[in-house]
Amino acid sequence: MTQRLVIAIDGPSASGKGTLARRLAVHFGLPHLDTGLLYRAVGWIAARTGRPPSEVAAGLTAADLDDPALRGDDAGQQGSRVATLPEVRANLLRFQKEFSSQASGAVLDGRDIGTVICPDAPVKLFVTASADSRAERRYRELRERGVDTIKPRVLAEMAERDRRDSERAAAPLKAAPDAWLLDTSDMDADAAFAAALAFIERKGFRSSGP
Ligand code: CDP
Repeated sequence: MTQRLVIAIDGPSASGKGTLARRLAVHFGLPHLDTGLLYRAVGWIAARTGRPPSEVAAGLTAADLDDPALRGDDAGQQGSRVATLPEVRANLLRFQKEFSSQASGAVLDGRDIGTVICPDAPVKLFVTASADSRAERRYRELRERGVDTIKPRVLAEMAERDRRDSERAAAPLKAAPDAWLLDTSDMDADAAFAAALAFIERKGFRSSGP
């Protein structure tokens, strides 16, 4: 029997981990969870309602994840602030663990997937890119969505979020010792997908689809 495929993907903001996770999930026919969306939703709802973030985290539902505002940079900042709170992380843990334990296998992307959520995942990727290429990507993404911003602002906000994510005491952003490092600074989405797929296939996993 082949091992259940769980792909744990971590990395900083705009490193390309979300796109890569979605493509790998489609390729292998696996369910995908963007765990950043959970933190964004908690931060966003707590800021709007004044409810304690840990309480919001405990009662989060799938419908809370549908709000398009969660994709914006404000929600990203609010998400990264509540992500420093150990009670928030603890209250989101069970959902993520259950998602990753599905019989089908799963793909999860975030900051602590390979280190905390799925320490036993057979495939761990840590996706990075230079701060400049990440800021350029995020800037283009925001402009495409019609958000009016300037590049220095995007770079500064990203640096602030990187610092908060890496320096926090609770589950900071860091590569698991057994994670494979993928630097996408000079890669487009196709090249990053091809590199990750080759790595996963070298581990003996193949898509069972057509
Ligand atoms: O899309 P982007 O990489 O910019 O951010 P995200 O993955 O949506 O995550 C938003 C924020 O949630 C991050 O800045 C982290 O602080 C936090 N996060 C976390 O702490 N742990 C995770 N597994 C995922 C996100």
